[in-house]
Amino acid sequence: MKIQIINGPNLNLLGVREKSIYGDSSFDTYLEQLRHQYTDVIIEYFQSNKEGELIDKLHEIGFSYDGVILNAGAYTHTSIAIADAIAAINTPVIEVHISNVHKREAFRHHSMLAASCVGVIAGFGLNSYRLALEHYLTR
Ligand code: DQA
Repeated sequence: MKIQIINGPNLNLLGVREKSIYGDSSFDTYLEQLRHQYTDVIIEYFQSNKEGELIDKLHEIGFSYDGVILNAGAYTHTSIAIADAIAAINTPVIEVHISNVHKREAFRHHSMLAASCVGVIAGFGLNSYRLALEHYLTR
């Protein structure tokens, strides 16, 4: 099984950025643990702060991978272009968030992407990614 994790803007700063919201682990450290725990799964990782690069990655892997786990960061709330890319590809996409966006500012309550995704997982810290992976393994 091949799974692509895609992180959007500012998620390169995990472990440094707003630790009370996003925790103090870097994504690289978390990814290492995840790969160690799921040795049978190929877990690829891509991060970009640029909307177009996130779309290019979805196009690149969207007809060959088994699943995408996407944290589009703030683009979740704004990007029709990423929503269209998710709808255009064959690979299913799960939207994830580290924080519980529904407990936060009103502008974070709406997702432009959710309707094009399999489902949404939010609020479980970095564990949100593992829960999404479990879906692909057990469906
Ligand atoms: C986030 C929530 C978004 O609202 C925010 O813009 C992020 C991170 C999360 O993982 O909790 O960058 O997607």
